[in-house]
Amino acid sequence: MPNQTTYYSRMAKSAPDKIAAISAYTKAGTRVLDFGSGLNLDVAKFVSGRGGAYTSVDNERSVVDAMLDAGFESHTDLRYIAGREFDVIFLSSVLHELFSYCSPLVAAHTFADFAKLLAPDGVIVIRDWYVHPADQWELQTQLAVNEAAKGEVDQWLAALQHNGVIGSVAKSSNWDRYGDGVLTGCVADLYEVLYHCVWGIKSLERESAERYAIRELDLDRLVDNNGLRVVLSECHHDDSYDRYFGRLFSYLSFELRDAPSKHVLVFKKA
Ligand SMILES: C[S@@+](CC[C@H](N)C(=O)[O-])C[C@H]1O[C@@H](n2cnc3c(N)ncnc32)[C@H](O)[C@@H]1O
Repeated sequence: MPNQTTYYSRMAKSAPDKIAAISAYTKAGTRVLDFGSGLNLDVAKFVSGRGGAYTSVDNERSVVDAMLDAGFESHTDLRYIAGREFDVIFLSSVLHELFSYCSPLVAAHTFADFAKLLAPDGVIVIRDWYVHPADQWELQTQLAVNEAAKGEVDQWLAALQHNGVIGSVAKSSNWDRYGDGVLTGCVADLYEVLYHCVWGIKSLERESAERYAIRELDLDRLVDNNGLRVVLSECHHDDSYDRYFGRLFSYLSFELRDAPSKHVLVFKKA
């Protein structure tokens, strides 16, 4: 995986945040399915420490092998656990990958599987990038890029456009000359630019394939079509991004500065 060290250190740093998302629902005997578990053992250890039963599913064979080596149940596919029941189905930083890499049909079938696996009083906990309401998605906004970061941002823009993650973003007329440059585009596209660029250019190949901004409409369809209802929706901006923003950007519009970087949603059967 390109720039694996940055990837795993970022995933590990957010362990307390992940645990906080499921803590209220996890006690002795709770059956937790960690879908797209990744290699982090923190969630697995937390669940078993509370006396719960932990199951991981991840379509990366190396993740499953590492989980099995660590003594946790793990599978590459939901079909291996068909017919079972879980009290908590946890998706941490996975929904945006489903929307990025899977067809709408596969995403719909995956959600239908979650609904079947969910115990009558169980919860689906989604922790991911911000779920943008429809009225914010297409709003036009601006972002100013530091002179020194224009080259780097240019590479991200080209890769994100090539991969269909963003649409057209207009550059100010001074973009190819000295001085800070301004990007104009819709909130959803500039949100992608903002949070992709903070990874640093070494992560371009892997991260530019993924769309982070989640459209509320896309999630609503999956939820409604499977007889689920939202019981909690909490979002916040993680301040640790701000120092990276400072290196790259000289101005962020109000809509971008205040856009949450994390969203936790909890669903139950209606
Ligand atoms: C960004 S990582 C998140 C890992 C972990 N949940 C965390 O929060 O640190 C996404 C993980 O989801 C897995 N994944 C993505 N799509 C998947 C799918 N359709 N089925 C199973 N696993 C999937 C990837 O292999 C990867 O390990």
